[in-house]
Amino acid sequence: MKKLLACCALICLGVSAYAADGATLFKKCAVCHGEKADKVYLGKVPALKSISTAERLQYMKEYSEGKRNAYGQGAIMKVNLKGLTEEDFKAIEAYIETL
Ligand code: HEC
Repeated sequence: MKKLLACCALICLGVSAYAADGATLFKKCAVCHGEKADKVYLGKVPALKSISTAERLQYMKEYSEGKRNAYGQGAIMKVNLKGLTEEDFKAIEAYIETL
């Protein structure tokens, strides 16, 4: 039983280490928002770099909950953030800060 628990703990650690990799997670976002988070998507969505940390985190949360639709494309963002946790959002945010 102890062995099983230890094993479980290791797997859990592995998963959270992966989840916290903002650079990897951001690759998906870069397609639309730009490698440096500086792209104005479709000529209307502000570059992620141009808004504040608090705004980015809040908007990610709102999109994932289906509560935000600022440019008529909130549904796309909801799909993009599907399966990501608040922990992931923080990791992505920390990565954007380094760009
Ligand atoms: C298929 C293109 C696409 C991908 C991929 C994508 N986004 Fe978006 N993003 C959009 C669009 C379109 C909007 C505007 C949605 C709306 O109408 O509110 C947006 C809006 C945002 C906003 C709010 C910007 C603002 O100023 O209102 C944030 C923050 C954001 N995206 C973060 C992310 C993150 C983080 C990822 C990766 C996990 C990601 N996006 C992936 C297209 C994309």
